[in-house]
Amino acid sequence: MNLIELKDVAKSFRSGDGPPRTILDGVDFTLADGEIVALLGKSGSGKSTLLRIVAGLVPADAGRAAYRGRAIAGPLSGVAMVFQSFALFPWLTVRQNVELGLEAQGMAPAARRERTGAMLDLIGLSGFGSALPRELSGGMRQRVGIARALVTNPDVLLMDEAFSALDVLTGETLRGDILDLWESKRIPTRGMLVVSHNIEEAVMMADRIVILSSDPGRVRHEIRIDLPRPRDADAPEVRALVDEVYGLMTARPSATPASGARAAKVDWRLPDAGVGRIESVLDLLAGAPFHGRADLPQLSEDAELADEELLPAYEALALLGLAHVEGGDIALTTLGRRYAGADQGLRQELFGRQLLKHVPLAARIQSRLETEPDGSLPEEPFLELLADTLEAEQAKRMLEVAIEWGRYAELYEYDYHTGRLKLASDPEE
Ligand SMILES: Nc1ncnc2c1ncn2[C@@H]1O[C@H](COP(=O)(O)OP(=O)(O)OP(=O)(O)O)[C@@H](O)[C@H]1O
Ligand SMILES: [Mg+2]
Repeated sequence: MNLIELKDVAKSFRSGDGPPRTILDGVDFTLADGEIVALLGKSGSGKSTLLRIVAGLVPADAGRAAYRGRAIAGPLSGVAMVFQSFALFPWLTVRQNVELGLEAQGMAPAARRERTGAMLDLIGLSGFGSALPRELSGGMRQRVGIARALVTNPDVLLMDEAFSALDVLTGETLRGDILDLWESKRIPTRGMLVVSHNIEEAVMMADRIVILSSDPGRVRHEIRIDLPRPRDADAPEVRALVDEVYGLMTARPSATPASGARAAKVDWRLPDAGVGRIESVLDLLAGAPFHGRADLPQLSEDAELADEELLPAYEALALLGLAHVEGGDIALTTLGRRYAGADQGLRQELFGRQLLKHVPLAARIQSRLETEPDGSLPEEPFLELLADTLEAEQAKRMLEVAIEWGRYAELYEYDYHTGRLKLASDPEE
């Protein structure tokens, strides 16, 4: 029997007084007994929401969510969650924080104490029981978060970016320790669902990777991984899988319009990446040792930035016609090579040309401003346009990105004195 089963699950949220926005739609998902599944997807694709539905913290609007065949109607004692933010009570000691889960289950104090002590030993917190969270390093704090989840002997462990607030080494150590507990069966947990932003982490941990699409979130790809654990991050099979997942994550979904999507509406979204980041990735790609073509994971490693910062930059390069991204590789286009060798002035000119050609939002801003006698307009009409398909916060962010890109290209800019968008003033005048 599956531990978790979601069938045709949907969830919408209403933000402010706007219309409800569909976050998850038609999600089918299972977590089998004995399985570790990693859930990947862009920021905002609904990963945390899916986890919260599984944890019984929020109800699905439609479809069926079941734990061991029974509908999930609220928090379950067999399901525990670890959060990115640790979510510890600062005024409670390590021991008290860990005991909380047991208290909620109504366990007697003596049994609680014993179980907590054993868990602190198991997770590497022996001797820290009476410390306060603020006295611990980030890695140790997250050990407390994990101990609090595991102390209840959960059947299913949910982890929402549990390692991403930690530095790389600490995150890897902690991840290794959890996998070790899992493999050696020193914890009774039967299944894990792990949300991550880190593609390599997903490949190192999971038996199966599930990739969510965005707007709305839906299961887009599933990749089975049959390699034994612990896995060697440098093994060719692991590298090939990391490559494959990068390829799937950077594939532009707009090429195949989702069925039932509002096809008539323009997609105003643009990747959330600043010009500085876009250009530094381009320069890195153009230089040695890549010389214009790279394996995405390798480029990411050299860039020393997290995947969630790099993926939008890759997407921006592809959108602007400066690079091709395909099957886990990235290569500069002819134009991209020219751009890499260009001086500042030519770069701005090329950027502007590509912007007007490939980014509908920038082209719209430019053409609307050009019809105004004074070349300026308040930002509201643009925000309203975006709010048609995006939620308010994302609309604001997209406009910011479009403004940053346009300002760089000297097309238009934002005037902070008037709060209006205006055509860039010609420096010659
Ligand atoms: N309680 C809520 N009320 C309104 N909107 C919400 C609520 N919870 C989530 N959302 C919205 O739903 C969308 C998906 O959020 P969610 O946190 O599930 O995404 P995510 O994939 O976990 O993103 P990230 O990778 O950034 O953590 C976001 O646009 C978010 O703003
Ligand atoms: Mg999240």
